[in-house]
Amino acid sequence: MATRLATVRTSSRPQVTPGQAPAEWWRSAVVYQVYLRSFADGNGDGIGDLAGLRSRLPYLSWLGVDALWINPHYPSGGADGGYDIVDYRAVDPDYGDVADLEALVSDARRLGLRVVLDVVPNHSSDQHPWFRAALADPDCAEAGRYHFAPPSEEPPNNWQSLFGGPAWSRTPDGRWYLHLFAPAQPDLNWRDPAVAEDFDRTLRFWLDRGVSGFRVDVAYGLFKDAGLRDNPGSYSPTLFGHGPEQAMTWNQPEVHDVWRRWRSICDEYPDTMLVGEVCLADLEQVALYSRPDEMHQSFSFRLLKSPWDTAAFADGVQSALDAFGAVGAPVSWVLGNHDKDRQVTRFGGGALGTARARAAALLVLSLPGSPYLYAGDELGLPQAVVPDEAKLDPIFHRSGGARAGRDGCRVPMPWNDTDGVGFSPDGAADPWLPIPAEWDRYAVSRQTRDGASMLTLYRRALALRAAHPALGSAEATVSTSGDVLTVRCTGADETVRCVLNMGTETVLVPNPGSVLLASSTHVRSSAGSVALPPDTAVWLTED
Ligand code: GLC
Ligand code: CA
Repeated sequence: MATRLATVRTSSRPQVTPGQAPAEWWRSAVVYQVYLRSFADGNGDGIGDLAGLRSRLPYLSWLGVDALWINPHYPSGGADGGYDIVDYRAVDPDYGDVADLEALVSDARRLGLRVVLDVVPNHSSDQHPWFRAALADPDCAEAGRYHFAPPSEEPPNNWQSLFGGPAWSRTPDGRWYLHLFAPAQPDLNWRDPAVAEDFDRTLRFWLDRGVSGFRVDVAYGLFKDAGLRDNPGSYSPTLFGHGPEQAMTWNQPEVHDVWRRWRSICDEYPDTMLVGEVCLADLEQVALYSRPDEMHQSFSFRLLKSPWDTAAFADGVQSALDAFGAVGAPVSWVLGNHDKDRQVTRFGGGALGTARARAAALLVLSLPGSPYLYAGDELGLPQAVVPDEAKLDPIFHRSGGARAGRDGCRVPMPWNDTDGVGFSPDGAADPWLPIPAEWDRYAVSRQTRDGASMLTLYRRALALRAAHPALGSAEATVSTSGDVLTVRCTGADETVRCVLNMGTETVLVPNPGSVLLASSTHVRSSAGSVALPPDTAVWLTED
């Protein structure tokens, strides 16, 4: 039974874009996140690498994205998927070398794609030469670059590791050292000027090689309470991030000076940008990291962390538009990344989760700002079941198996539906994480031939987004009516509505214009209206 939809405007706020120059590509760029280890294996060792990624750049150009962000490519201790870095100005031999990175950047530029690297300033690897020196000699200069405390019965305070257990471990000589993540990731002491100076060198090293900026890991960290006081509350993974209960470990005011310093370095290089990972519950605090003299963007994780619920999605969109609009920054929309279960699975799995993921793709690709697409989401990959014995994520191991961990969203990409899935060349070693046998059904080669596939939908949506400035860079107003969420994007030349039915009944949406794109073939259009089934979205022009 179809119900007629009356659009009710709940709130609106224009995007603040002072002095926006066309050169500010990052304001509306579609950024594709490459999990390097899982993208494409060039040399047959079962591990994705730079040569493999380079060979697949034409795919990304064909897909229609503007930039890629590559998860850490640095020599690493291997304790946390590359987020434990041993050398910030080198490439892990698993992935190639600096010349491969330079070749990647120049090939990408030829295809009109920009390359953004990951940088991890909150902590290093315990294999980093500084930490090794500090272990060997408590009085050396390098020891001041970490947080050590003298031997004692109890750790210096009540801080917890995000991966489980206390945030302090002991050195072989009985001292304590701080690690807010795994013990193999000692936190750097940003009150030591040598740390900041070394990161300046790292940024310039890669910017000199032509990269277009950085995704900044744990950008809400770095500085800790100077007195290392106890946190007021115990660590609880709140829905949207950390809050006052963790006030001593995160979001210290001094950190904003680091982003001003990094911004001024980036400003020396044309067209570069910084996007920060800022996991704070208060979105207005998150947006402060993207004030005009700080990072260009900080991720909005609201939709990534929202259930399939109209009010949650409407609030996720509106609150991000408001918070980032207030500082003049574009919103960076995230529906998937290497830390969360795949969206198809989060949204209910199977046909239901897939339909919802298709609809959600139209939503984020219509919104003003910069959407981040996680590799494999354009194929509709579900969360893979990874056998416990193959799991590598420290979250799984440190929680004694109580938390599933993130391996299931990091499984290699299926490229072909012929022999194997084409992640590695023929006759190669097993992939570093097992690829489910039935994943040939998601392969790029198969979806390319299928006009109704998820990949085809993404490609069409990206092409339309590029052709219609109302999508991605317009003024947007958000409204809900029952379980229907509407985003009206008003550009200079046209208005496009994205209408998303999150309810359980088909709704009739008035449509004076035409259907630009539908997330499902079940959407029916007749004179003056569109019948929109549950879990579908459409883009409608008002011509
Ligand atoms: C960020 C990364 C995550 C990593 C953590 C520690 O949250 O996205 O993958 O484990 O930082 O570096
Ligand atoms: Ca390889």
